[in-house]
Amino acid sequence: MADGIGIAFQPLSSKGSGDLVVFVGDDLALSSAASDLLGTAGVELVARAAASERFKGKSQSALTLPAPAGVAADRLVVVGLGSDKDRAKIDYVTLGGFATGKVGGRTARVALDWPGSEPSARDVADFTLGARLRSYSFDRYKTKKKPEAEDERTTQLTVLSADPAAAEKAAEAARAVADGVILARNLVNEPPNVLFPEEYARRASELTKLGVEVEILDVARMRELGMGALLAVAQGSAREPRIAVMRWNGADDKSAPPLALIGKGVVFDSGGVSIKSAGGMEDMKGDMGGSAAVVGTIHALAARGAKVNVVGAIGIVENMPDGNSYRPSDIVTSMSGQTIEVINTDAEGRLVLADVIWHVNKAYKPRAIIDLATLTGAIIVALGQDIAGLFSNDDELSAAITAAGEAAGEKVWRMPLIPAYDKAIDSKFADMKNTGGRHGGAATAASFIKRYVGETPWAHLDIAGVGMSSSPSEINRSWGSGWGVRLLDRLVRDTYEG
Ligand code: BES
Ligand code: MN
Ligand code: ZN
Repeated sequence: MADGIGIAFQPLSSKGSGDLVVFVGDDLALSSAASDLLGTAGVELVARAAASERFKGKSQSALTLPAPAGVAADRLVVVGLGSDKDRAKIDYVTLGGFATGKVGGRTARVALDWPGSEPSARDVADFTLGARLRSYSFDRYKTKKKPEAEDERTTQLTVLSADPAAAEKAAEAARAVADGVILARNLVNEPPNVLFPEEYARRASELTKLGVEVEILDVARMRELGMGALLAVAQGSAREPRIAVMRWNGADDKSAPPLALIGKGVVFDSGGVSIKSAGGMEDMKGDMGGSAAVVGTIHALAARGAKVNVVGAIGIVENMPDGNSYRPSDIVTSMSGQTIEVINTDAEGRLVLADVIWHVNKAYKPRAIIDLATLTGAIIVALGQDIAGLFSNDDELSAAITAAGEAAGEKVWRMPLIPAYDKAIDSKFADMKNTGGRHGGAATAASFIKRYVGETPWAHLDIAGVGMSSSPSEINRSWGSGWGVRLLDRLVRDTYEG
């Protein structure tokens, strides 16, 4: 369940044993450092094998060979990088994931060098990020699948590069981000009988070890604050809800307004009285993916000492049917004072977010609010499982998030917010209702949240499609993807830090 990998840094000349990974473009040319490591016999073998195996050095292709006698290696792994054009825009995170996939569970030296290449320390760090994320697996509950020896399974990578000291230094920040993603994945993969709200709050509290201030709000406190919307969702569960507020004040000016990150943390969403059908209901343990991204991001920012003030807040509840459940037709009063008519108890995420967002906006006066939530099935219908929906009241924030998503490889697509969506949630009996009818489900949900953000620049990321069971990639083989941590870390780095 750890990241299953150890990474060391050495100069390009470093000899050793285990697998040897080298890189070539579609001209199959090796760098002189790679040729030295392979030796004459290795270089010859690679050329002959490439011809006989029709290996063309295409991007995301690889050739694996037993090392010839006299070469200090067990296997040779030649990884293709493609054309000049491909090589000009290498995604080092993906490359790290791909290369690690070829040597998983083994000891390998990776010569990050090819003709005309000059991977920067940051590129090498990105490579290690991809390597770490690829090596993750969640097997805490597999009692029969334990490897004979732990180190038989752990990948041991030695990354060879021009300036190993600089690479090692840059890789520390990448390590912080990888740990944040892995924390988020672990939280999403955990079953709800283990990760119930109190336990989740306890895990969030562990961030204090990194210098994060964590405050846990219990039911009594939520009652005092008047959080009637969140409490309504929670009242059908035997497990009490919690809110975890995590503050990382890394900016030079500790009193500068923070960026607020808010997460939906429904540890299990049965739908409540408006119960979901049985097929696939087990996936609703992942209905806390938004909150996991927030916790993972705070971890990453604190662990790499980011120069930024951030407040993360997650509403942690379980949505269950029970004699004491809230019910369709109930009217609840949110902390904002606005009343909500419950039409469908399965539209619970927006109720949780309404109160957490209102509280954070009031208590911390953030410069911007970003919420993340596995909010609607409708966003999956609209966008599928490889891109998240973005709704925002602010073009600048929206553009910054889109750019960060592009750079991090966690893509978002902006969706519209128009008055018609807002109108759709007007209620006959209260200020609003919690569903907007059959059409535009992701947008009417976003419009609901919009009623709780006031004038603060705000963006809502509907991650129902990308947070869990999304397509496996070179850097993710896990059900819980940890989606959002890399985007948010990148956003902070590019827009809010310094
Ligand atoms: N947690 C679900 C949304 C969801 C669905 C997330 C599938 C991940 C995968 C959310 O609470 C929900 O049930 N939404 C309803 C809203 C409807 C009742 C207005 C939905 O999308 O059907
Ligand atoms: Mn629901
Ligand atoms: Zn839900």
